[in-house]
Formats: sequence, structure tokens, C-alpha cells
Amino acid sequence: MIDAAYKGGTLSKMFITFEGPEGAGKSTALAVLAERLREKALQVVTTREPGAGTFGRSIREILLHGEELDPKSELLLFLADRANHVSSIIRPALADGKVVLCDRYADSTLVYQSYARGLDEDFARAGNRFATGNLVPDVTLLFDLDPEIGLSRLKSKDRLDAQPLEFHQKVRKGFLREAASDPKRWKVIDASVQPETVIESCWEIIEPLVILRR
Ligand code: TYD
Repeated sequence: MIDAAYKGGTLSKMFITFEGPEGAGKSTALAVLAERLREKALQVVTTREPGAGTFGRSIREILLHGEELDPKSELLLFLADRANHVSSIIRPALADGKVVLCDRYADSTLVYQSYARGLDEDFARAGNRFATGNLVPDVTLLFDLDPEIGLSRLKSKDRLDAQPLEFHQKVRKGFLREAASDPKRWKVIDASVQPETVIESCWEIIEPLVILRR
């Protein structure tokens, strides 16, 4: 039987987020996985936080390349970016039945601003719910890596990359804690191995899910 889904213009509404500490190879993997899904004739939207769209790009500049910010202000800017990103890019793409691959999302705020920076966790969770209108990913891939290795892979450092190692260790722990609390949504990937192996691990998770949805 010919699978009509493979003939082109296939829809498989699914929201997949990529999370993890710095230098874990998320962005590279995301680009490769998007191509593979497109080869299966799926309609895919790739996006990222912070910084999708014109508004997002301005916020990204302030957040990553601007002067030191009050942590509360930092958290609110990530939420402001997210609210606009969800309403202008993510929800419309999902409503069209597309697969959305997003490089960082609400879990980054919870982990970086609350777990690592120490801001109120209930507020961060409520802020995420408010900003996203409760849009939770179908799957979240956690690229887990020792931050010392991740940081050593970076060619240049933005404002958050430049935080002390202890901060990045908290980030790693925070992600692992979140992943353990909801293993149905979170899939932990060992990002210390070769990039090709990391991508295969992601594909093994994504492919059956996306195909099942069609
Ligand atoms: P970016 O350059 O997009 O790259 P990467 O995801 O590969 O690190 O950096 C985004 C930075 O912003 C990163 O240090 C994580 C941080 N961040 C937060 O602190 N909170 C958030 O809510 C988001 C989305 C990102």
C-alpha cells in the first residue's frame, strides 16, 4: 500500500523542543533532524528561543549581548519573547499541522532563571503557563553533557555562557531533575558522544512518534 503521507505535503502536528546546557550540539542536531523529516515529505518549521522573528531578535540582542541585567528583568524578557513566539510562530505552525522543532523553550527559563539563578520557581512555572497559554511540548530532547566539556566547545561566549562554571553545573542538574519528573515527555540523550551518534539517538525517538501521528 502506498503511504499517502509520503507523497508530499504531509502533516504531522507535533511540537518537539531541544534543551540542554551550552555546547551540547542541539542546534546542529536540530538542523539535521529537520532535513530528515523533510525528506519524509513532512512539513517542518524550525525555530528557536530567544530570538525568533523581528521582535524576538531585538530581545535576543538585549538578553545575550547587552549589558548586565537584573535577573527578574532577564526572566521577564525571556517570557515576553516566548509569548510572542508562541502566538506568532509556534501556534500557527501547529494549527497548520506542521512539525515544529524548537531550540530551547519554557524549560530553559525554569532551569536557567529559577534553578540556576535562584528566582522563584512557582513564578517561573506560572509565567511559562501565562506566556505559552499552557502549550507544552509533545517531546523534549535533553542533550545532557558535562558543562566543562560543553563550554570548552564554544568558539565565543555570550552573556549567559560567560556565567561561572557553578551556574552551568546547576543548569545541568536542573534539566536532569525536570527530565526525571516527567519521563514521558523528556528523553535524555548522551551528548558527550560523536555528533552522528547523538543524531541517531534523537532520530530513533522522533521518527516513530512523528510517523505514528500522521
Ligand atoms: P543561544 O545562543 O541561543 O544558544 P544555545 O541554546 O546553543 O546555548 O543561547 C541562548 C542562551 O539563553 C543560553 O545561554 C540559554 C539562555 N536561556 C535562558 O537563560 N532562559 C531561557 O528561557 C532561554 C530560552 C534561554
